Amino acid sequence: MKMDTKVLVIGANGQLGSVLTKELRKKYTIENVVASDLKENDNQKGIFEIIDATDRNRIQEIVERYNITQIYHLAAILSAKGEETPLATWDINMKTLFNVLEVSRNNNIDKVFFPSSIAVFGEGAPLENTPDDAYLNPATVYGISKAAGENWAQYYFMRYGLDVRSIRYPGVVGYQSMPGGGTTDYAVDIYHKAVLKEEFNCFLKEDVTLPMIFMDDAIRATIELMEAPKESITVRTSYNIAGISFSPEEVVTEIRKLYPDFKVNYKPDFRQEIASRWPSSIDDASAIKDWGWQPEFNLKAITEIMVQKLQEKYKKGMPNKEILTF
Ligand code: SER
Repeated sequence: MKMDTKVLVIGANGQLGSVLTKELRKKYTIENVVASDLKENDNQKGIFEIIDATDRNRIQEIVERYNITQIYHLAAILSAKGEETPLATWDINMKTLFNVLEVSRNNNIDKVFFPSSIAVFGEGAPLENTPDDAYLNPATVYGISKAAGENWAQYYFMRYGLDVRSIRYPGVVGYQSMPGGGTTDYAVDIYHKAVLKEEFNCFLKEDVTLPMIFMDDAIRATIELMEAPKESITVRTSYNIAGISFSPEEVVTEIRKLYPDFKVNYKPDFRQEIASRWPSSIDDASAIKDWGWQPEFNLKAITEIMVQKLQEKYKKGMPNKEILTF
């Protein structure tokens, strides 16, 4: 057992990665967390290395150079974006995962985190209170890659004893970073438009209810799962976690309490098809039982925080919307 925890975050510029990296640096100190992504990001202080995770040798080199003991592999092409180039999405999502699993196995990495998603569900799974072990019948290439990835995570645990842990994230809503290419991303964009006093064109129907989670809850869940004693982890594919469930019209109702003139046009596109096959609520009994999961933020709290933080940010002058790290 190595003494110090040395963390490598792959995909550290992304929606979750940028916030998680900050939190991990608070927890393990700035010297013990290596952020990596395809491009440098000046928004955070700390060690940064360019890694294209399709290049296994590059991951190996960085793991050796920093004596890495934990890897968070967050790089992936998401649900909506992935549909533009299905085979390339499969290649990228799977190749990067295999590279991380192989490097981890060969270097005796203590723990690996692999994010999965509600996108693993589809026809055949109950739409309400979908359990962990529901039938997986994903309809997007992203969902297929996550369902396969979960099984590979479990395989590496069973076959090689590699301690891979995983969460099926609901749609993540946060003010700290911009998402990219997801179906649940409307629930971030809508707050930006409200605060900017712009109209919002919603690509989903008003009444499609999806499982969502506030960023702070998502980050806390990740760290709680990674800190849980190994013996208590009973799900080696991926844990369902629930935050809250809401539809676009429910968000609009909350936003209009603060911005009564907020205008929304519903223009559903192919993403509506994707969303219609996803659960509307999640049964997370195993996460509650195994590592004590409990979300803290409801829609009212999320809306108040999103609006307040984005107002502050826009007042200071809006940074580049592509990479937004607060
Ligand atoms: N937020 C993701 C997406 O919409 C779901 O994991 O693709």
